[in-house]
Amino acid sequence: MKNTRDAGGLAQLISSHGRISLGHFPTALEPLKRLGKWLGGPSVWVKRDDASGMGQGGNKVRALEFVLPEALAAGADILLTSGVVQSNSVRQVAAAAAKAGLDCHFAMITDRVDRTDSDYAQTGNVFLDHLYGATHETISVSDDRAAMLERIAARMRAEGRKPYIVPYGCANRLGGIGYLNAAAEIATQAEALGVTVTHLVHASGTGGTQAGLIAGFAALGLPIDVIGIDIDADPAGVKGRVTRILRELANEVDLDPGPLEDRIVVEGGFSAGAYGQADERTVDAMAIAARLEALTVDPVYSAKGLAGLIGLSKAGRFNHVVFLHTGGTPAIYAYRSLFGYGSRDD
Ligand SMILES: Cc1ncc(COP(=O)(O)O)c(C=O)c1O
Repeated sequence: MKNTRDAGGLAQLISSHGRISLGHFPTALEPLKRLGKWLGGPSVWVKRDDASGMGQGGNKVRALEFVLPEALAAGADILLTSGVVQSNSVRQVAAAAAKAGLDCHFAMITDRVDRTDSDYAQTGNVFLDHLYGATHETISVSDDRAAMLERIAARMRAEGRKPYIVPYGCANRLGGIGYLNAAAEIATQAEALGVTVTHLVHASGTGGTQAGLIAGFAALGLPIDVIGIDIDADPAGVKGRVTRILRELANEVDLDPGPLEDRIVVEGGFSAGAYGQADERTVDAMAIAARLEALTVDPVYSAKGLAGLIGLSKAGRFNHVVFLHTGGTPAIYAYRSLFGYGSRDD
């Protein structure tokens, strides 16, 4: 591949984009020794993007550092976005809006996950959205989301507002640039720690995280395989979304898109069969992370990512692996019934 660069060179390239500091970066890269021992030997590390600071953290904080400048440059006074009831992305957009002094409104998709009980409908992310000052209206998963957002934006403009639409999952080129940056961080931290990383595993959904990491490692000339764990029960769909953003990022880092696309790996089989649902492996991953490493993973995203790491490690897929903890921890309160707490009143 042409045009690889060092971490400083990649950081410099990223610095040509507008960026507003929102999070606590670099996030830590920590060993998971007890998990590695439990798995029978691989060296396992965690990149703590769950602890990225703003609004209880998560992977969208990196994306929003690059999305927000565009919103402000466009003169926006309100961020408009969409997501499910327990969307981590919406929560981080609401937090970013609060921090930037903007309003936030979102289209809440109430019927993608088949839950109406009060744990799901009122705690965790949705509680935080409103705590950060966001307002919402409801839409259905069967609605044309883009058209709905355009309609809401038009209504706001007619009321004299200046909305900026943050894409679903903050998944676009700007959002992906945040993960180019994460790749540079990981490379620098691994080198300082004397760690040779061969694989990185994380929960993948709307694609920006995985696309940014693949492009970032490729730009650095690092042979780190990024394994996205499908959380949608639709690995082909996830792969398609990663591909779309990766093509745009290839341009950013001046690499041929073809070889980059060949590096996209999305593993199915750990999604519990549906978005927002958990199975035994999901719950086991939550318990293992908590009891071996005091690490909190949520059943919608990060526990599925970790279940993937556990399953693939048992299948002998890697010896030196980083688990990217993408966040999602506020959602655990909406899912406490998985551990016998609270009552499902739906
Ligand atoms: C906690 C968490 N992990 C992983 C993901 C997936 O990241 P991406 O949408 O960039 O593929 C999300 C997306 O919302 C998330 O909230």
